[in-house]
Amino acid sequence: MGDPAFGGIAVRNLYKIFGPNAGAHVDAVRNGMTKTELNAVHGHVLGLRDINIEIASGSIQVIMGLSGSGKSTLIRHINRLIDPTAGEVLVDGVDVVKMGAADLRTFRRHQTAMVFQKFALLPHRSVLDNTMFGLEIQGIERGKSRDIAMRWLERVGLKGFESKYPNQLSGGMQQRVGLARALSNDAPVLLMDEAYSALDPLIRMDMQSVLLDIQAEIRKTIVFITHDLDEALRLGDQIAILRDGEVIQQGTSQDIVLRPADDYVASFVREVNRGRVVHVEAVMTPLRTPSASGHLPGGRTIAADVTIEEALRMLVGTPDDEATVVDATAKPVGTVSFRQLAGAMVNAHDIGQQAGESRANVA
Ligand SMILES: Nc1ncnc2c1ncn2[C@@H]1O[C@H](COP(=O)(O)OP(=O)(O)O)[C@@H](O)[C@H]1O
Ligand SMILES: [Mg+2]
Repeated sequence: MGDPAFGGIAVRNLYKIFGPNAGAHVDAVRNGMTKTELNAVHGHVLGLRDINIEIASGSIQVIMGLSGSGKSTLIRHINRLIDPTAGEVLVDGVDVVKMGAADLRTFRRHQTAMVFQKFALLPHRSVLDNTMFGLEIQGIERGKSRDIAMRWLERVGLKGFESKYPNQLSGGMQQRVGLARALSNDAPVLLMDEAYSALDPLIRMDMQSVLLDIQAEIRKTIVFITHDLDEALRLGDQIAILRDGEVIQQGTSQDIVLRPADDYVASFVREVNRGRVVHVEAVMTPLRTPSASGHLPGGRTIAADVTIEEALRMLVGTPDDEATVVDATAKPVGTVSFRQLAGAMVNAHDIGQQAGESRANVA
């Protein structure tokens, strides 16, 4: 644990076709045959088409898309629960696709851990014994396994529950056990397939906070699947959006919300509370030449990566109508007014445009 260079993932030119003669159809798919055509003409299902994703070690990569878009198919390639029809899946530079049976077993046990939507807890084992399960399989001595499991149970907020059984716990608590079990493995790669999708909204947000808290400490490479954009935006350092087995957009939350690649992404984004996602940077009036003398006289400063909602909260109830926006080095990069911020909240889809206009006004 702790080596930040550990656990980077690269998915390259990955194709998955389901059907008895999959390999024979890769070229047709490469040459543009659609999922519908492949199914109609050859009776095969296109699972994934030409997926390319680089996941930095220690980051959270969210994969998002509607049901049937290929999310589970994709994540299952990372620990090779599914064999690709073509392509590479590199973890720490090693192609998982080319591993022999023994290497694959070692890889799965030591390099990856999974958290499932349905928790997959063993009903006749206590919380502690469920948490220790992976360590047991690894052949780790019981006393040591127990210490590790107890530490993670405490970390996910389940201290005192270790001798309970799964059916004595709520869904949220069972998912905490699932997370503690996965973390006990101390694998550099954590795979979470709709892990929170069955939880009630408030419990779900709780679990997101638990994950973010722990991640700040352990810096695993996490692949997190969800069909919920709010969850994606909250958790993802990077987000990839899938449709019909293809990645149609990859980027940060800012990229996705401010510049949706097409109508499909835009339809997800429409429901988002942008005040909580979009940074002040996107709505400010940029300084023509960033300089140390760009402060408004006597005014307050706001960091460029603060959300619109937070910035409004900072200005509300103060005499200031405008603030200086500063970058991470405290250098002024722009100004933002109460009106600009409020306008961006109300007239959400004009944010990019507004920023463009302000820039034009300055020039
Ligand atoms: N074993 C399989 N055989 C045939 N088709 C499959 C199989 N697994 C998945 N698919 C198909 O691949 C597509 C992607 O499925 P999946 O990865 O489960 O989507 P998601 O997780 O985004 O809901 C769907 O069209 C699904 O029907
Ligand atoms: Mg799925």
